[in-house]
Amino acid sequence: MKNAPIYLDFNASTPLDPRVAEVMQDMLSDAYGNPSSTHWAGEPARVAVERARRQVADLLGCKPQEVIFTSGGSESNNMAIKGIAEGHDPEQVHIITSQVEHPAVTEPCLYLERRGATISWLPVDRFGQVKPADVEAAIRPQTTLVTIMHANNEVGTIQPIEDIARIASAHGVPMHTDAAQSVGKISTRVDELGVDMLTIAGHKLYAPKGVGALFVREGIELPPLVHGAGHESGRRAGTESALLNAALGKACVLARELSGMIEIKALGDRFWQQLQKALGERVVMNGHPNERLPNTLNLSFPGHVGADVLAAMPELAASTGSACHAGMLEMSPVLSAMGVPAEIGAGAIRFSLGRSTQGQELDWLARRLSQIVLAP
Ligand SMILES: Cc1ncc(COP(=O)(O)O)c(C=O)c1O
Repeated sequence: MKNAPIYLDFNASTPLDPRVAEVMQDMLSDAYGNPSSTHWAGEPARVAVERARRQVADLLGCKPQEVIFTSGGSESNNMAIKGIAEGHDPEQVHIITSQVEHPAVTEPCLYLERRGATISWLPVDRFGQVKPADVEAAIRPQTTLVTIMHANNEVGTIQPIEDIARIASAHGVPMHTDAAQSVGKISTRVDELGVDMLTIAGHKLYAPKGVGALFVREGIELPPLVHGAGHESGRRAGTESALLNAALGKACVLARELSGMIEIKALGDRFWQQLQKALGERVVMNGHPNERLPNTLNLSFPGHVGADVLAAMPELAASTGSACHAGMLEMSPVLSAMGVPAEIGAGAIRFSLGRSTQGQELDWLARRLSQIVLAP
């Protein structure tokens, strides 16, 4: 059976929204000046950068001056984590994070750990959630930062960030959340979440790769990682890309409308029900049944290896939750932290839906997957 290509890897990256591409097209000819130049050529670029800053701020419900443009989610996370640590003696740094973070959080924490910092790697329950009480118990007098992701990229589980942030705030500890996966899928208003810093990644949001932002609440001291001229209020040196920032701004305007997510969630729910009907116990969901991103379904087919199932469907672009290293199947750290048994984790596939996902392609996929899983 042949089918057209199916893209269900929107958590890995999204295509450019045509409305974002249109904004970029206009910028290409008109905004070549340096945004810092005071002459006529700098004006369109400067106007575009500041408009984009307001657009990002509007989505997050913060002040424009609290938005720093970056090259993406990894840089924003590095800036938040290493930046906060910078003001302290490395041996006095204590960071609380979880065992299910993206490497863009885990690696900066490990880097600081090698330099003498103490990191508390909090466990998660079988749905992938951190217990707020564990955060409270881990706080020490010298705790420098709590960084817990808003929603997980692999299983979509949403963390109780409001509760965690309340605890951090009560102890006077700054709170960062990696919202690379949640922006545009669920509400990410910073005052509702109660966070002091929040990471955005453009390419998860129908903007191009190579652009992101970090919200930094007024009053939080964050020295720059990249030193140079005084761009971004002295917090990140480098001539601003009016092109990329304008694209992110437009993507944030489009992301304000979360109603499209209702349809995406309905498509995912129907796909899940079709698979359950056809496969019964031969399909299992990883992640939280309800507290989950509306577009993300991480499903395991016990007795099958995720990569083999995907190999049988070359037309499908989706991700597996396990990798084969030197002939050994290695489960993702996220599924391991959730205590998913190896025989289930090995069969995990992440289906992440997006704006262009069609019901018909999911219907086809449900039938094809059932055939593969039930084949003798
Ligand atoms: C949760 C999370 N954080 C951070 C990142 C890194 O973002 P970027 O690719 O923009 O550096 C990703 C990307 O996969 C992600 O899923």
